[in-house]
Amino acid sequence: MLRARIVGTGSSVPEKVLTNFDLEKMVDTSDEWITTRTGIKERRIAGDGEYTSTLATRAAARALEMSGVAADEIDLLIVATVTPDFPFPSTACIVQSNLGASRAAAFDVSAACSGFIYGLSLASNAIKTGAASKALIIGAEILTRILDWTDRNTCLLFGDGAGAAVLSSCTDEHGILSTHIHSDGSYWELLYQEGCGSRNPAVQETFDAKRHFLRMQGNEVFKLAVRAMEDAALEALGANGLSPADIDIFIPHQANRRIIDAIGKRLGLGSDKVFVNLDRYGNTSAASIPIALDEANRTGRMGDGDLVLFDAFGGGLTWGSALIRW
Ligand code: UT7
Repeated sequence: MLRARIVGTGSSVPEKVLTNFDLEKMVDTSDEWITTRTGIKERRIAGDGEYTSTLATRAAARALEMSGVAADEIDLLIVATVTPDFPFPSTACIVQSNLGASRAAAFDVSAACSGFIYGLSLASNAIKTGAASKALIIGAEILTRILDWTDRNTCLLFGDGAGAAVLSSCTDEHGILSTHIHSDGSYWELLYQEGCGSRNPAVQETFDAKRHFLRMQGNEVFKLAVRAMEDAALEALGANGLSPADIDIFIPHQANRRIIDAIGKRLGLGSDKVFVNLDRYGNTSAASIPIALDEANRTGRMGDGDLVLFDAFGGGLTWGSALIRW
């Protein structure tokens, strides 16, 4: 049976660190509130001359290097992002040019924090059907450029970064066992960027009304995230005749420590099985799972044959899971 296997991972975060103590000087908040309500201690902020494509290209180059796959062998190049370099062309096309991935069909996926799972699902299915044999999936965001730095409800939650995975076809027991992706557009107003699209174009009124910034109803999103992520995890396991006890490492979207802990508890997972790095990066949206994956991979957290579960949730609303035999 033909499957997609992850043969290389990479990530890249900007050098500049913004701590909770830095934020205490910017808005009415405290390290204590941020730590207990979110688990975040610091996040990375892109510098001048760093764009989403810059971080995406660096992460992708590292993933390609690990995989031994050359850029011009890639058939499909997908960038998951809601903070592209430009409305068009796609950030994927810019990354394609940077890498020299000349044979690839390159395009962006917009599914907010679930974007990497969406891209992985598309690429996995393309490989399963034989439509592609090698794919590069990148989650990359510079969310700090669409944050309202006077809004304490949002500005401290997010950070910048990129992560990437190279997929190659395989015929043994390894690889992506299944992916499941879902959306419910009736909740779109819970988490969105209202301005700079066709509805509220990039004109002075849009900026004056601060419509170009990200807006979120955090506590509503929180409740829906826990339920949807638990459902997506159980759906992945059920589809493969497996149970939570079979999971070796759980890599959830890194939005809030309390969300991660609640899902881990519902699935009965020990904390040693749950990968968490949001204390260092905050919520990097589509980049969060591939950055965590790369850190887990490079620190030897996954052994041959381990069962790895990805679980995401984000604006749209969107959610999904992917189950992998490493
Ligand atoms: O990645 C995509 C999906 N996104 C998420 O999953 C995010 C989900 N949501 C969350 O992570 C949480 O809802 C937040 C971290 C955003 C907020 O935590 P919360 O426990 O839901 O807090 P809240 O919004 O209900 O606010 C609780 C209190 C309020 O004060 P009162 O009304 O109880 O007096 C807020 O005004 O905390 C106050 N508050 C703050 N205090 C200090 C809100 N933000 C801050 C702040 N510093 N930064």
